[in-house]
Amino acid sequence: MAEIPIPKMTDLALGGKRVLIRVDFNVPLSDGVISDDTRIRAALPTIEYAIENNARVILMSHLGRPKGTENPIFSLDPVATRLAELLKVGEVTLTDACVGDGARRVALDLRDGQVALLENLRFHPGETENDPKFTKALASLGEVYINDAFGTAHRSHASVVGVPAHLRKKAAGFLLEKEIAALSRLMTGVEQPYVAVLGGAKVSDKIEIIKNLINRVDCLIIGGAMANTFAAAKGGTLGASLVEADKLALARDLLARSESEGVKLIIPSDVVAATSPDAGDAEVVPINGVPADKMALDIGPDTRAAFKDILGRAKTIFWNGPMGMFEAPQFAAGTIAMARTISGQGAFSVVGGGDSVAAVRQAGLEKGFDHVSTGGGASLKFLEGKVLPGIAALQP
Ligand code: 3PG
Repeated sequence: MAEIPIPKMTDLALGGKRVLIRVDFNVPLSDGVISDDTRIRAALPTIEYAIENNARVILMSHLGRPKGTENPIFSLDPVATRLAELLKVGEVTLTDACVGDGARRVALDLRDGQVALLENLRFHPGETENDPKFTKALASLGEVYINDAFGTAHRSHASVVGVPAHLRKKAAGFLLEKEIAALSRLMTGVEQPYVAVLGGAKVSDKIEIIKNLINRVDCLIIGGAMANTFAAAKGGTLGASLVEADKLALARDLLARSESEGVKLIIPSDVVAATSPDAGDAEVVPINGVPADKMALDIGPDTRAAFKDILGRAKTIFWNGPMGMFEAPQFAAGTIAMARTISGQGAFSVVGGGDSVAAVRQAGLEKGFDHVSTGGGASLKFLEGKVLPGIAALQP
């Protein structure tokens, strides 16, 4: 990917200006309560900087996928409350809708250093469609545009690409800058050996990243259910495990490609298999001999040791995706072991992706990673070598 200059927020005059900041407050909610506020905290440096510089801050975000209709389940109300607590300001005003008279009034009434949050952008179909009329209405609320929503930078949505096209004064926020800097270290001048660990359920979600990483890494470790498809492609018997039958040829092709590139593509040797995720009959079996009635749900102990050995020699590590059915505690061991192994290693390490990041947090190991990305899909797209639309849109 050609390096493109990233305009800095610190180069812009913010005082007295209505500054639209695209943040990614797409946080997990459980019964209306935020269960992980990491994404809100991650945007604080940018918001605080804007406040300290007397900006009139207008935050915009999506939450979930309400598909263009208003749905109270996806209201940003709990986010506004949490943000006010974290910023230690009396109030963060939540608008009734992201565009329209209410939003306009709130934006125009803001004083220097005050903060408003627009209601969920995705309550309006124009957001995901990047509709020109919607984009114009959104852009008209501000005078300066900042993008700090790395997790959404791979989406060509109105608030990501449409609004910055209308505003001349635009820049990246501190979080976006930090993400780009960390992930760029995985693209150029990478310290070898470079090991990438990919997990998750489907090969189909990771095809592009695998193809791209094969040319860059010394070793590609594949875990999680996607490893089943590779094991089946090598002739293994996978029992009732999830195997993508239509991706077997692709898996064979990727195995052949890694061999011709001299890159090790390592899959598990043993797995923990059970008849169902909640059956009490889990056993460790070879991945190429899973009993007919059982499915692979986690990596086994030999595999954990082998992966640890490879990672022990790495100088650079990227990890995305769980090693098994992490959400079920009895099949979380492989993913937690991966988090421990990488965090205890001296390599430059980056983790991205919902479940793998959740495992790192659950095990309290964040400090052992050089960078914990706030973007799962966005970090993969970045490492595929794509210029993310949200980054391209910041160019003058
Ligand atoms: C994410 O959680 O990955 C980002 O907020 C983007 O959300 P989306 O996949 O619904 O576009």
